[in-house]
Amino acid sequence: MTTVRVLTGIKPSGTPHLGNYVGAIRPTVRASREPGIDSYLFLADYHALISTHDPARVQRSTLEIAATWIACGLDPERVTFYRQSDIPEIPELTWLLACVCGKGLLNRAHAYKAAVDKNTADGRDADDGVTMGLFMYPVLMAADILMFNAHRVPVGRDQIQHIEMARDLASSFNHHYGEHFTLPEAVIDEQVATLPGLDGRKMSKSYDNVIPLFAPREQLRRLIMGIVTDSRAPGEPKDTEGSALFQIYQAFATAEETAALARDFAAGIAWAEAKERLFERIDREIAPMRATYDDLMAHPQRVEALLRAGAAKARVQATPFTARLRAAVGLRPLDDLAPPPAAEATGTKVAPPVFKQYRESDGRFYFKLTDAKGHVLLQSTGFDSPKAAGQAVARLKAEGWSGSPDLHALLEAYAPAERIDAALALLREA
Ligand code: TRP
Repeated sequence: MTTVRVLTGIKPSGTPHLGNYVGAIRPTVRASREPGIDSYLFLADYHALISTHDPARVQRSTLEIAATWIACGLDPERVTFYRQSDIPEIPELTWLLACVCGKGLLNRAHAYKAAVDKNTADGRDADDGVTMGLFMYPVLMAADILMFNAHRVPVGRDQIQHIEMARDLASSFNHHYGEHFTLPEAVIDEQVATLPGLDGRKMSKSYDNVIPLFAPREQLRRLIMGIVTDSRAPGEPKDTEGSALFQIYQAFATAEETAALARDFAAGIAWAEAKERLFERIDREIAPMRATYDDLMAHPQRVEALLRAGAAKARVQATPFTARLRAAVGLRPLDDLAPPPAAEATGTKVAPPVFKQYRESDGRFYFKLTDAKGHVLLQSTGFDSPKAAGQAVARLKAEGWSGSPDLHALLEAYAPAERIDAALALLREA
């Protein structure tokens, strides 16, 4: 089965509420468990710097959002879950993409245009208060996506233009430097549930009508008791249609539970009782996650360790890929330009990089990797058996040097990682 790479970024800002859970977190966690999906999920903390200059808030939000996703069942073993700022290759790629990005393209970005329009309407300078971070936002986002050659990017409608820009930048780079990038596609979930808030309008921070996802049990109860209802008395039949309470219940309950509540509405259940039922139903789903969340918030070092492991996993791809991109644009070691060895001058073909395996007088098994010019790139220490040495060679071939950090202790590197990766990539292609 071919795997589909699905990637999404989460901006660490604000405290997640039930609407975020039902509309984004829960469906994304479920989707990440489907077979055939290689899922990348990251905290877009570089993006967060665009909207706040409060360092403590960035740090706090990063912890809260990471803890939330893990508590909601995201499995860091299964998905690649990382923090954008742990991947230095991403800002590096941002620059490479910026250099194939027309400024006019960014002038047309909705978020930037909205800021300009507002300034103009208010009689201010067009770019008043606009940082280069805001202006470059789509380029950074393109780097997020293209770094892992994502096929699909699930996003909200407001982000579609950004995915189109990522495609534009990928095409432009490919055109100049060869086929390096997959063109990503936006995935918009048409039937993504929007949850009503306390006042019946869409649950949203801007309406101040939210129920925080991990509010303590008693606060959750109090908030739910405050959901707006009509004034029908106990015993009077109630409408499910247009009832925020009913819609929220539906987002958590099974079809049978929902049907049972609908019958009780028709039979005139008291609002207080209906709210109690809603509270218990939500709490049943949320309570175990809340416990995990509280535990993670009390042990930020665990979250840190998970994110670092995620970054290491992500960089297994990002580091060698960036090495190839650097080489593609001409950021190359200068010794490549050294005069060719004698062999080439006499017209014989240049040898490809090779692994040589041999046995030393100490009875142990060794190998080394030499490049086309005969320079030693890697030298192994002694292995107990030819099989063990062979396995290390096979892994280096398959995973690259940067991709097999656990082998580094067994090897002496005589060249920069990029060159070793490039030689191994060449071998793999051959
Ligand atoms: N811009 C996205 C948002 O505000 C977050 C984001 C950053 C993102 N990088 C991304 C989403 C890459 C998808 C892919 O929601």
